[in-house]
Amino acid sequence: MAKRANSFACQSCGAVYGRWQGRCDACSGWNTIAEESAPPPLPGGSGPRGPAGRGKGRVFPLEGLSGASMDAPRIASGIAELDRVTGGGFVRGSVILLGGDPGIGKSTLLMQACGALAQNGRRVVYISGEEAVGQVRLRAERLKLTAAPVELAAETNVEDVIATLSNGPAPALVVIDSIQTMWSESVEAAPGTVTQVRGSAQLLIRYAKTSGAALILVGHVTKDGQIAGPRVVEHMVDAVASFEGDGAHHFRILRAVKNRFGPTDEIGVFEMTGSGLAEVPNPSALFLAGRDTGSPGTAVFAGMEGTRPLLVEFQALVAPSSLGTPRRAVVGWDQSRLSMLIAVLEAHAGLKLGQYDVYLNVAGGLRIVEPAADAAAAAALVSSLTGAPLPPDRVYLGEVALTGALRPAAQTSARLKEAAKLGFGAAFLPRAGIEAAGSSPMALDAGGDVADLVSGIAALAPRSKRRTASDGG
Ligand code: TYD
Ligand code: MG
Repeated sequence: MAKRANSFACQSCGAVYGRWQGRCDACSGWNTIAEESAPPPLPGGSGPRGPAGRGKGRVFPLEGLSGASMDAPRIASGIAELDRVTGGGFVRGSVILLGGDPGIGKSTLLMQACGALAQNGRRVVYISGEEAVGQVRLRAERLKLTAAPVELAAETNVEDVIATLSNGPAPALVVIDSIQTMWSESVEAAPGTVTQVRGSAQLLIRYAKTSGAALILVGHVTKDGQIAGPRVVEHMVDAVASFEGDGAHHFRILRAVKNRFGPTDEIGVFEMTGSGLAEVPNPSALFLAGRDTGSPGTAVFAGMEGTRPLLVEFQALVAPSSLGTPRRAVVGWDQSRLSMLIAVLEAHAGLKLGQYDVYLNVAGGLRIVEPAADAAAAAALVSSLTGAPLPPDRVYLGEVALTGALRPAAQTSARLKEAAKLGFGAAFLPRAGIEAAGSSPMALDAGGDVADLVSGIAALAPRSKRRTASDGG
């Protein structure tokens, strides 16, 4: 066998170079490039070829579109919030990469999914490369899943894992926790390197495709939120999901970043309890809990995450700035969207925000990407600027155009229905969306542009505190 040339791979993004360099051109990381031996040709597949057969392809049979297909293509876990994100269950033979910060609850979520499937009589295998069998059992005890017939092993050698899995009927679900701990004998690189992660993932993915088992790979996340190891693993898998949450709150959000077999705009909401993750079927109530209704600067947005309406609170603080260039900080929303909104409010509603620091926060650690949230963000900003608290039972929705016009949001009636269900009595929405609202029991206040929104809020301001739009400086 010819000697394989060594290559140099970036340990954070997987880019490959012919020689060492200090900085990765692909991800701009410094000192991330390390020498590795080139990945070998994949074992299996077309099988070993003698020197005589080199360069000659092997003829494989081609098949038609009719004929046997995989039975019951999806395996529902029974955990509704998880099935919502996968698009109705795990697809047979598909591979999901699950990323998330350490300690966020990835192993817990997957153990609960395994337990639920195993209790339904499916063969489920959980391979832990990070924890000993005893540690995994401790978690299972806490989750009251010790009786579930989940097959468990602590193992890191990919060849051994695949041989074990192939022994017996194909499992419905295989969990590998985590892909960074796996190593393959056929890859001449240290465990944990990009080459190893890529090589091991390749072998495991091939196993899933040929056996029809659904495979979940747990992936670590680096401090800037990327799934560690080669980005190529993200391209190799069918779906990438991330499990998010922050230390201060108990709820966790499962979000699909990529999904070949389902939606990417659905979220699953869970709450971490003393005995595992509990589903949160009505997240609006959770995100609005503990809302401070009497103070200026908060507005409720009637949002939509995938097919589910979701009410969230936007909080704004507009305060005189002592800096030459005032601060604009935002958490949970898009920074450039905020800049755009401020520019539109200044140009079309006469607000002067040039001397003010502006902070915007979406309550509960949620991240909102819908353009329809513009009106709620604007209402929170104006409310903070004028010192007028918004009516506590009112929701806002609508997209703000650069011309200042308000554009209707999709699925207005579903949003209003959810708001009415949670006790809201009024809604501010774009005039063009009034018809789509249908017969809503709520009092509807329609506005054509941002000036209507601003004048409506300014009218609420207490006389003493009122700062009108034009003397804002
Ligand atoms: P874990 O699933 O191990 O996280 P990951 O695999 O993402 O690193 O979860 C670890 C955290 O969850 C840990 O801080 C303990 C907490 N936890 C609970 O609060 N309740 C529970 O029932 C379980 C199993 C864990
Ligand atoms: Mg874990």
